[in-house]
Amino acid sequence: MSAEQPASADRVLLITGASTGIGAATARHAAGAGWRVVLAARSLERLQALAEELGGPERAVAVHCDVTEWSQQEQLVVIALASFGRIDAAFANAGFGAPRGFLNDTPEHWREMVLTNVYGAALTIRATIPALKQSRGHLLLTSSVAGRRVLPGSLYSCTKHAVTAMGEAARQDLNGSGVRVTLIEPGMTDTPFFDRRPSDALNDEDIARAVIYAISQPPHVDVNEILIRPIAQAG
Ligand SMILES: NC(=O)c1ccc[n+]([C@@H]2O[C@H](COP(=O)([O-])OP(=O)(O)OC[C@H]3O[C@@H](n4cnc5c(N)ncnc54)[C@H](OP(=O)(O)O)[C@@H]3O)[C@@H](O)[C@H]2O)c1
Repeated sequence: MSAEQPASADRVLLITGASTGIGAATARHAAGAGWRVVLAARSLERLQALAEELGGPERAVAVHCDVTEWSQQEQLVVIALASFGRIDAAFANAGFGAPRGFLNDTPEHWREMVLTNVYGAALTIRATIPALKQSRGHLLLTSSVAGRRVLPGSLYSCTKHAVTAMGEAARQDLNGSGVRVTLIEPGMTDTPFFDRRPSDALNDEDIARAVIYAISQPPHVDVNEILIRPIAQAG
């Protein structure tokens, strides 16, 4: 099935890191706005429950995908296209943090974080570009306020600077293809990202609405980035 012959007129949003937090909230908001969704993460049971909540196989599919594995990202796109025939937007959102301090955390956890946040996002771009070019679609990446300002001793902040650069690199690479690129840069947001949940933070729905804003613009409008903090966040 080609992008010209969709099974349904409803557009399709693929989300990595869809099992909790920002990704799951975005899936709910997008489904509410009429999008079909492809939900990817490692926690398949959570994804399956969310897909069921969002209307079952006609509207939402759950796909186990570790974003650090190229073969799994390729398979994710294969399943998305087999299920819905097209991908109109891809949201590379999977990621996690680590304690600050270059003498803290472990080298193994650093490796996992860099591979997930940086390499994983790059693989999602690589895997989805052909389908996005066909649909003249939309690529979105979750960077962070920490991808805009450097935080002391934060390798996480360095990974998000890489994602910010990746968004601009992809935008320039895709210029002329009809594919739009948006960086979502959340400030502190109350999600399972934090072991101790923050107060005075944004909630996942605040970020979901920003994503929906970006993907709801007319085709000639490319919202390049959305930097969004809770009002209580100074830095
Ligand atoms: N919360 C904040 O304050 C904040 C601020 C700025 C940016 N961000 C960014 O927002 C994004 C979403 O985070 P969140 O706050 O919504 O936290 P979250 O609820 O912990 O969500 C993280 C998501 O990433 C997935 N994930 C982690 N490693 C993965 C892997 N190797 N392969 C596939 N999926 C993976 C997790 O699912 P599984 O564990 O099931 O795989 C989960 O769905 C992240 O990129 C984070 O860096 C968060």
